[in-house]
Amino acid sequence: DKGNHRHFMEKEIYEQPEIISHALGNYVDFAAKTLKPQADAIDFSKLSGLAISACGTAYLAGLVGKYWFERYARLPVEIDVASEFRYRELPLSPTQAALFISQSGETADTLASLRYAKEQGLKIGAIVNVQESTIARESDAVFPILAGPEIGVASTKAFTCQLAVLASLAIGAARARGTIDAAAEKEMIGHLIEMPRIMSRVLNAVQPQVEALSRDLSRFKDVLYLGRGTSYPLALEGALKLKEISYIHAEGYAAGELKHGPIALIDENMPVIVIAPYDRFFDKTVSNMQEVAARGGKIIFITDEKGAAATKLPTMATIVLPEVDEVISPMIYALPIQLLAYHTAVFMGTDVDQPRNLAKSVTVE
Ligand code: F6R
Repeated sequence: DKGNHRHFMEKEIYEQPEIISHALGNYVDFAAKTLKPQADAIDFSKLSGLAISACGTAYLAGLVGKYWFERYARLPVEIDVASEFRYRELPLSPTQAALFISQSGETADTLASLRYAKEQGLKIGAIVNVQESTIARESDAVFPILAGPEIGVASTKAFTCQLAVLASLAIGAARARGTIDAAAEKEMIGHLIEMPRIMSRVLNAVQPQVEALSRDLSRFKDVLYLGRGTSYPLALEGALKLKEISYIHAEGYAAGELKHGPIALIDENMPVIVIAPYDRFFDKTVSNMQEVAARGGKIIFITDEKGAAATKLPTMATIVLPEVDEVISPMIYALPIQLLAYHTAVFMGTDVDQPRNLAKSVTVE
C-alpha cells in the first residue's frame, strides 16, 4: 500500500525517520545513551582487520562504514564489491571478521563472498533486512536493519538503515578497542538518537526546492557527483540512484580525483553536484568546486548553513541542510540525493518503482 504517495519509492523515502528510529532502537538504549548487547554480537576488540563485501547500494553503505570503523575504532577495513571479492583470492585470516550487507539477503555474489570468508575461518556478520534469508542463515551474527519490506527497486530506506546499523557497530567496535572514551561514545550515540527528528525536518524543508531543481536536471544528459570522506560514497550513491531510475548518465567521483580526468568533461552541459558539509574536508572540496566554476560548469551545492555562508561561488542551486555531526551526516545527506533522483525520474516519466532491466533481488551471478 502506497498510502498517499505516488510511488513506493516516495513512500519509502518519507518513512525513513520513523523506520530508522525503530532500527536504532534495536542497537541503542535511548534513555541510557548506550549501546545494547545486540551491537556487540561480534567481538571487535582483538581483530586485526575487518573485511566487508556487498553489491550496489549495500556496498556503498559498507564504504561509508569503512570510514567509520577506521576512524573511530582504528580497525583496518578491506572492502570490495562482492563480484570481485569472491574471485580475488584475497588472503584472509581468522584474526579478522567479515561483514556482508544485503537488503534481500539472497544476492548471489554476496552469498558466495560470505562462503569464501567462512572457509578462511573468519567470524561472519550479516547486515540484512530479510532475517529469514540465506545470508542471515549462514552467518554467525545477524544484524537486522528492520526497515520493513522495501518494494521500490531502488534502495532508499534500506540504505539509511544499513548506515544506522553500521554506525552503531562502529561505535561499539571503538568502545571495545578502547579508541574512544565514555564521553565520546555518549556524544556519538546522542547524535544517532537525534537523527530521526533531523531527517523529518530535512525531508520537509528541502522537498519543494529539490522538486523544482529536478525539472531542470531532467534536461541534462550527464551529471557528475563529487564528495570527500564519507561524502564520497554518497556521491557514488547519488549517481547510482539517478542513473538507475531516471536513466540519465551519472558518475560519482572522489572530489580530489576531478583533476585526474573527469575535469575534461566539465562544460555548461554537465551539472556537477557537490556534496560538502562544513567538515574537515570542506575547504578542499570547495577548491575543487572552484575548478568546476572556472570552466563554466553548473554547480548544485549540497551543504549546511556554515558551508553556504562560507562560499560565494555562483551555483545553479544551493541546498542547505542543518549542521550535523560527521557520524550522522551520511544519513542526512542521503535524503536530498534520494529526492533529487526520485523527482527527476518522475519528470522523465520513467517507471520509478520498476526501472527497466533491474530486479529487486539478484540471485544469479
Ligand atoms: C540500488 C539497488 C541495488 C542493490 C543491490 C544489492 O538502488 O537497490 O544496487 O543495493 O542489488 O542488493 P541486496 O542489498 O539485496 O544484496
